[in-house]
Amino acid sequence: MSGAKLQKSSISNQQSSIMRVGIIGSGTMGSGIAQVAATSGCKVKLYDTNQSALDKAKAALEKILSRLIEKDRIDADEKSRIQNNISYVDDLKDLSDSDLTIEAIVENLDIKKKVFSELETYVSKDCIIASNTSSLSIASIAASLKKPERCIGIHFFNPAPLMQLVEVIPAIQTSKEVLEKSTKIISDWKKTVAVAKDTPGFIVNRVARPFYGEALRIYEEGIADLPAGQAGFATIDESLKTLGGFKMGPFELMDFIGNDVNYTVTETVFTAFYFDPRYKPAFTQKRFAEAGYLGRKSGKGYYDYDDNGRILISTELKKPLDEKLAQQIFDRVLVMLINEAADALFMNIASAEDIDHAMTKGVNYPKGLLAWADEKGIDWCVSKMDELYNEYHEDRYRCSPLLRKMKTNGLRFEV
Ligand code: NAI
Repeated sequence: MSGAKLQKSSISNQQSSIMRVGIIGSGTMGSGIAQVAATSGCKVKLYDTNQSALDKAKAALEKILSRLIEKDRIDADEKSRIQNNISYVDDLKDLSDSDLTIEAIVENLDIKKKVFSELETYVSKDCIIASNTSSLSIASIAASLKKPERCIGIHFFNPAPLMQLVEVIPAIQTSKEVLEKSTKIISDWKKTVAVAKDTPGFIVNRVARPFYGEALRIYEEGIADLPAGQAGFATIDESLKTLGGFKMGPFELMDFIGNDVNYTVTETVFTAFYFDPRYKPAFTQKRFAEAGYLGRKSGKGYYDYDDNGRILISTELKKPLDEKLAQQIFDRVLVMLINEAADALFMNIASAEDIDHAMTKGVNYPKGLLAWADEKGIDWCVSKMDELYNEYHEDRYRCSPLLRKMKTNGLRFEV
């Protein structure tokens, strides 16, 4: 299969010369990325317009590193080394000596474009200008630059220091050299790089959509309902955890991410794909978000939470799982995920290897979806999709042409 190539992170964290990295925005993502770069020996300048965000980032790092000392993961010297590698600045001009800048500010195209075009007036001509955007096109951000070929997407996952995957997204304007350099830098930071086409959701936020969407659809149809009006969230979650080995079920995960955040990602992807019904958001989640039932952070979502963010066990969770129902739920969500992964490969969004690594290292899936397709059998995937299509006659359940072709030719993904 053609497509971009996955690069394994290098064992060494030695930089050939000390890299200067400018990070714009010291919120959740910017501060995490700063920690990653500083840990790898880069000199980092973390910039924010909001002084309290800078103070918060500095205090948060102190806490994280102290905890790492307690856990014997680093020593005091390492802590000082990392801290001394980061300076906190409130003037964009201070990033003028950067070799690479990564922007992680508010998700707003106009604001990002303004910051990028100002930044370009300060940095050297060779400086790579990257964005950590989750949902905007890299081409649209690059268009704000005089030298758009220096622009690239470098998309970390939250929390950046812990999540292994980084998606690297060249825009149509990006030069080959900038792609190669960026990939090398991120690999040197001991991350696994997956190169993705500049399309909505890149790899992970596209391929993972059915995990939430199909679970919500199953819930809305009421097939997972238990007697006495119990909701079925726990039944769906338990089916995926028990039969699939997922660490969290879809409803637990949506509660963890936040129903507001997760709903917005789905809606953005749906709109960006010209309303393809495969990505259609669910009213259930919209209503939960509107009601303020955001999940763990608000104490109530699909589950109720105690003050420590732990799920308060519902009566439904205590009931034994109906085996046949659990299998039906698991098969339906899994085949929709496999179909999405196969279609991403069919559309050359990334290589088969990158698609599988993206899901195991970006969202901790127990297996790569294409490897899972081989395990279940391509015939099984096609017939399950056709069963769903025949039942609903909705475009949402169309089988990827790639799976169909593979079935005809007796092929496997062999990732
Ligand atoms: P955040 O709200 O935690 O932090 C944003 C920071 O940017 C704030 O400290 C704010 O003061 C600062 N800021 C806003 N406008 C600025 C400007 N013009 N100049 C300098 N600083 C400015 O946001 P978060 O969650 O860190 O997200 C940042 C970016 O990363 C967004 O593009 C988002 O889509 C992306 N992203 C977020 C992920 C997440 O899970 N939170 C995951 C991956 C990407």
